[in-house]
Amino acid sequence: MSKEVLILAIESSCDETAAAVVRNGREVLSNIISSQIALHTLYGGVVPEIASRKHIEKCNQVIEEALKQANVSFADITAIGVTYGPGLVGALLVGVSEAKAIAYAARLPLIGIHHIEGHICANFIENKELEPPFICLVVSGGHTHLVVVRDYGVYQIIGKTRDDAAGEAFDKVARAIGLGYPGGPKIDKLAKEGNANAIEFPRAHIEGSPYDFSFSGVKSAVLNHLNICKMKGAEINTADIAASFQASIIEVLVSRAVQAAKEYKLDKIAIAGGVASNSGLREAMKQICQQEGIAFYYPSPIYCTDNAAMIGVAAYYEYQKGTRHGWDLNAVPNLKLGER
Ligand code: KG4
Ligand code: ZN
Repeated sequence: MSKEVLILAIESSCDETAAAVVRNGREVLSNIISSQIALHTLYGGVVPEIASRKHIEKCNQVIEEALKQANVSFADITAIGVTYGPGLVGALLVGVSEAKAIAYAARLPLIGIHHIEGHICANFIENKELEPPFICLVVSGGHTHLVVVRDYGVYQIIGKTRDDAAGEAFDKVARAIGLGYPGGPKIDKLAKEGNANAIEFPRAHIEGSPYDFSFSGVKSAVLNHLNICKMKGAEINTADIAASFQASIIEVLVSRAVQAAKEYKLDKIAIAGGVASNSGLREAMKQICQQEGIAFYYPSPIYCTDNAAMIGVAAYYEYQKGTRHGWDLNAVPNLKLGER
């Protein structure tokens, strides 16, 4: 029997302070998340300085709780995994410093993880049969990437957003129609009451880059629509706006992912990141994948938003590949996927 590998993982790249214990890559023994959403809602978005301070306050607590719930101590842990980029530099630094301190004191290997690699790996937790290669659509508040997952830890980015991330577009449109922060879940809910064909919002295609995205045009189109309604004194139907906006985003995401699966001859598509919780996106993906004979994978909402379990999974596969970081590991706010 192979030796059991227990990863203690830490995630603090944005507004969630999280720690988790993951056994042998796919079994989550604990997954503790302390969310700062309520705090940042007061300001309509994440305030970096407040996020860093809150991480410092919560970091030890979530780690202690993660060990306790997993019923393990530092002595049982094989390695420490931590998100070291991309994200807010002050926020990342808290997790990285904590991880280095624990790894040094407990004489454990330290493994820095790319946040997006974590989001992709969230799919391995509940889909035990899922193995690379597959297409992964990563849609979060900060990123929109279309990735060919060649192997564990081997990623080829074939498309990205040129401007706003998908989640950012949801958040901005939600703010414009008065729903508040974070906008994604609120638009998702309101869209169910609206007509997705009520307003024709643009679907951007970028000449020569079939897999790149652009969402700033949709956002501007929503703002224009609101202005025109106000000027004409017409009624603003926020449910129709939410439904039509969401439909325009989903259509682009789904069509690019399926096109990529066909071109790269892969019969598996996974989605990841906060926006992967979107019920419309999940439904649309399910339907088209079924039609096209493609297997569709997605994590439960708790593994879509930022969490440390996904970092633990990624760290396990990096550990198996021999990835180790030194005491000079630093937060890298604009870290690129595949960079070391
Ligand atoms: O992955 P995540 O927790 O943080 C980042 O790494 O950015 O993603 C947060 C983003 C936010 O923009 C939020 O509005 C969006 O995910 N989001 C959603 C839904 N739930 C969260 N967007 C659309 N529909 C949802 N149900
Ligand atoms: Zn994230």
